[in-house]
Parts: sequence; structure tokens; C-alpha cells
Amino acid sequence: MQKKIFQFSSKRVSYYFDADFSYLQKIADKSQAVIITDENIFKSFKKKFEGWNLIVINAGEEFKVQQTVDTIIEQLITMEADRKTFLIGVGGGIVTDITGYVGSVYMRGVRFGFVPTSLLAMVDASIGGKNGIDIGDYKNLVGTINQPEFLLYDISFLKSLPQHEWANGFAEIIKHACIKDLNLFKELEKNKLSHYQKNKPALLKLIQKNALLKSIIVKKDEFETNERQLLNFGHTLGHAIEKIYELSHGQAISLGMVTACIISEHYLDFKDTSRVISTLDKYGLPTLAEFEPKKVFDMMKMDKKKVKESINYVLLKKIGEAQTKSIAINDLEKIIYSIIRAR
Ligand SMILES: NC(=O)c1ccc[n+]([C@@H]2O[C@H](COP(=O)([O-])OP(=O)(O)OC[C@H]3O[C@@H](n4cnc5c(N)ncnc54)[C@H](O)[C@@H]3O)[C@@H](O)[C@H]2O)c1
Ligand SMILES: [Zn+2]
Repeated sequence: MQKKIFQFSSKRVSYYFDADFSYLQKIADKSQAVIITDENIFKSFKKKFEGWNLIVINAGEEFKVQQTVDTIIEQLITMEADRKTFLIGVGGGIVTDITGYVGSVYMRGVRFGFVPTSLLAMVDASIGGKNGIDIGDYKNLVGTINQPEFLLYDISFLKSLPQHEWANGFAEIIKHACIKDLNLFKELEKNKLSHYQKNKPALLKLIQKNALLKSIIVKKDEFETNERQLLNFGHTLGHAIEKIYELSHGQAISLGMVTACIISEHYLDFKDTSRVISTLDKYGLPTLAEFEPKKVFDMMKMDKKKVKESINYVLLKKIGEAQTKSIAINDLEKIIYSIIRAR
């Protein structure tokens, strides 16, 4: 096991890499801890949860809502959970987002930590302290920024992760490489998904590298005024098409990253779109799709809640070097229309 500590504005977060789930009892007292997990993870790993106080929620984004929060809180009351209770979210990003939120509001805040079980949660969702729930069509509209006390990484959980969930994780990993790490990009370019699935040391290293990469960005800008925005690479258009076409998050941001690369050619003379495309392709992510520009554009504007004159778009100067650029809505509309027509 390898321990690393990050000091964020209000909390020290301990990262336990290459750990075993059983180590959890050294971090949290079983009598005061309550694990929150979802039905899929519970079914696959029942034995691991023996002896722990447990709340099992339904799996799926449609359950990342206030109703589920209420159900959890009712169960906490029944368990007589108090201010000393330590909540532990064991799951994908939905479980960690909800656990962080409940942990932030139950009795005005109790201790909480995470054991991420999906690749996406390991490299992205469990890191950075953002938590919350969806309200109607608005994803993550309500929540807080509050860091967990710890993150425990046990990659043996990934054994049962469905294949398409791996691609979701790799979309964020490729995003990290594009915005910050040329060497990581070269590594990804050289390998393919099965390499990491078969090679535990390579997977461990990859997850740790990505968890640290995101943590460093967040530490510089916990409350998202500049640096943290870079993590939105591929997400502006991505979020819009995810909603309209019911794509997975990874598929949507893969297409979003391709579009952002093409926009980067225009504004920053970016030259490596084809390398980004072939790398996304290697990890089972789509790079070419037909969509209706008007619908997508309207959704993109709506997603920003307030329609402003311009959108802050994350672009690439080179692979490993990103910057945000404020682009006037009218110009963006023209470029996106021309990209879609050219395909
Ligand atoms: N807080 C943040 O900064 C942040 C960042 C990115 C994403 N998110 C949020 O994370 C969520 C997506 O995360 P996700 O992709 O992990 O989704 P998820 O939690 O729905 O997990 C994906 C699926 O895999 C299953 N699963 C997870 N681990 C498993 C395992 N080890 N074995 C078998 N099945 C397993 C889950 O039950 C679920 O069906 C979204 O709600 C998104 O908004 C948050
Ligand atoms: Zn994402």
C-alpha cells in the first residue's frame, strides 16, 4: 500500500493506493461507520461488507436524486447515526457523489470517505470534493464542494466492472493526457485497453497517475475559477449530446473532445486532431457521429443556464497543453455548423 496526503483548503485527504478493502477497518471504526453502496456492487461483493453497517441504494443516474438522499437519511436516523458517524461511499461516481452530499448535510456535516469501485470514480468522480444530485433535467445542480477524508483504492473491485464502463473511465484518462500530460498520451497511444486489463501493475500506475493529476489541478483551484475549468475539456458539447442522444458520458465527451480539437485547429493552430482521434478509437470510444447542429446548440446554450454572449471553451494548444478561450456564441455556432457539415 502507498499513502499520499493532499492538503486542500479545509481538509487533509489521505489517498491509500494499491490497498486492500480490508484496510478500511484501520481507517474507520466499524461501530461508527456506515457504508453506502449500490445494488450492483453489493451483489458482486457481498462478503466484503459483512460486519459493516450498510445502506444499499438503487443503481443508475435516475436515482441520483433528492428522494434517494431522503431514503438514506431516514435509514441513518433508524440506525441512530449521530455526529460521530463516519459515512463511507463504496461505489461508482453516483455513490460517491451522493455519499459526499449526505455527509455534508446530515447533522450539518459528518465525516466521510470513499472507496471508488468504477474506473471513472477512481480517476475522476471521487476526487476533488464536488458532490451532489440531479434535479429534473439538470445534472449536479444541487450540491457542495467538500473533500472526503480519505480515498481507498482497491483495484480488485474492477474485476466485475462491465466492459462499457471501462471506456467511460478511459475517456477521462485520455482527457487528462490531452490537457496536461504528453507522456501519458504517448503511453496511451502505444497501448490499448486490453493491455491495462491484463496487466495489473500498469493499471495501478495508470490509475494512480490520473488520480494525482486531477488532485493537483483541483488543489490549485478548488473552487473552479480557472485551472479546474481545464477538466471540462470535451464536456461543453459533450454534456449537450449526452442528454439529447442518450449516449454514455464517455461516448459523449469523446465526441466533445474531437470537436474541441477541431475548434482548437481554428483558434490555436492545433495540429494533432488525428492522434487524439486514433487514441480514442483504440479505447472503444466513438469519434464520428451525425448530430443535428441546431438541437445541440440550443441544448448547449441551455446547459449554461444563463445564455451569455460567449462560452468559455477548453482548447488544446498542443497535446498536454490546454487553455480556455472565451468564444462568442455566434462564432462558435458558425464553427460547429461548419464542422458538422464538413463531416
Ligand atoms: N464529483 C465529481 O467531480 C464527478 C466527476 C465525474 C463524474 N461524476 C459523476 O459520477 C457519475 C458517474 O460515475 P460512474 O461512471 O462511476 O457511474 P456509476 O456510479 O453509475 O457506476 C457505473 C455502473 O457500474 C456499476 N459499478 C460500479 N463499480 C462496479 C464494480 N466494481 N463492479 C460492478 N459494477 C460496478 C454501478 O453499479 C453502475 O451501474 C455521474 O453521476 C457523474 O455526474 C462526478
Ligand atoms: Zn466527465
